[in-house]
Amino acid sequence: MSTLTETTIRVNIPQDAYDVRIAPGGLDSLGQWLASEGAPLIKPGQKVLVVSNPIVFDLYGKRTIDALTQAGYDVCHCILPAGEQHKHMASIAQIHDVAYENRLERSSAMVALGGGVIGDMTGFAASTWLRGIAVVQVPTSLLAMVDASMGGKTGVNHPKGKNLIGAFHQPRLVLIDPQVLETLPVREFRAGVAEVIKYGVIWDLPLFEKLEAAERLDDFNYVSEDLLQYMLEHSCQAKADVVSQDVREGGIRAILNYGHTIGHAVESLTGYSEINHGEAVGIGMVAAGQIAVNMGLWDASATRRQDALVNKARLPTRLPANVSIDDILVAIKSDKKVKEGTVRFVLPKGIGTAFVTSQVTDERAQIALKSLI
Ligand code: GLY
Repeated sequence: MSTLTETTIRVNIPQDAYDVRIAPGGLDSLGQWLASEGAPLIKPGQKVLVVSNPIVFDLYGKRTIDALTQAGYDVCHCILPAGEQHKHMASIAQIHDVAYENRLERSSAMVALGGGVIGDMTGFAASTWLRGIAVVQVPTSLLAMVDASMGGKTGVNHPKGKNLIGAFHQPRLVLIDPQVLETLPVREFRAGVAEVIKYGVIWDLPLFEKLEAAERLDDFNYVSEDLLQYMLEHSCQAKADVVSQDVREGGIRAILNYGHTIGHAVESLTGYSEINHGEAVGIGMVAAGQIAVNMGLWDASATRRQDALVNKARLPTRLPANVSIDDILVAIKSDKKVKEGTVRFVLPKGIGTAFVTSQVTDERAQIALKSLI
């Protein structure tokens, strides 16, 4: 018998507050929750466009559509090819074509059923259709559950850099059904664990310690329900705490980019296909930890503890052989984290706290990256 329990986390963004519902089996209640009597999040009778990829749609499309139809919505769908390499403007045009064919109106909504790629693209398509319609996030990967589905960042990649095109568009609801993780490929599960480790390092020492105490982090089938519940609740709470303080990343929200400066460079240099986002973040956290140690900001023992977690999740801790340090140094300069010409890094300064700095020179980054060869 499952011991996973239902929990709701409120993301308190002024004018745009919403719930993140962690609900085992909740997929079947999606329509009911959106339609909730008295205060519907989307009015029953409205058109709802479900966006997904073929793999997720085969597994969960029917249940999602049934749940929405039973609650009185007029449902259509759009299936996009799976993978980060399809996260581009042409896919947004495809969603808009389906929105046009089905005459989606201002009061209609889109539902993102999938991982981070589907969530980001659906959110962006919703933010631009008729100048903005409602979006509901139903993340099906661990990574999307703990990070991408919350906080309203939406968008697509530009050939020259990740997520360079996008908009902030908060969802009406985030529905996390942990049971769908049963079908998530193991490599994708590990990618999500990278983001969970990130929250431990930058925000939540008890989460970090809980991960340290776990026997395994590399496979959903060997992670206890108690640990999974803890990981989901703590990660989502961390993200909610941070984004409610700083919606548009004017300040503290930037710490969520821990491991992402070098991570994004590695992802883009490997064509968004060889190394997935979580793996790249794992490599980026190892590099950032080393930079912090070299700058005297972090204990060598703390970075060893962090790297041990990355290893425990069986995420890579070394640079891919086909990526050179010089290429990384060039790539990080075209990332959107560059401000007034300076690359900004997030560095830890203890386990559970992090800060943003522009003081990481090329030379410092280079020395740290050498230790990842
Ligand atoms: N994934 C980082 C953020 O949402 O700000």
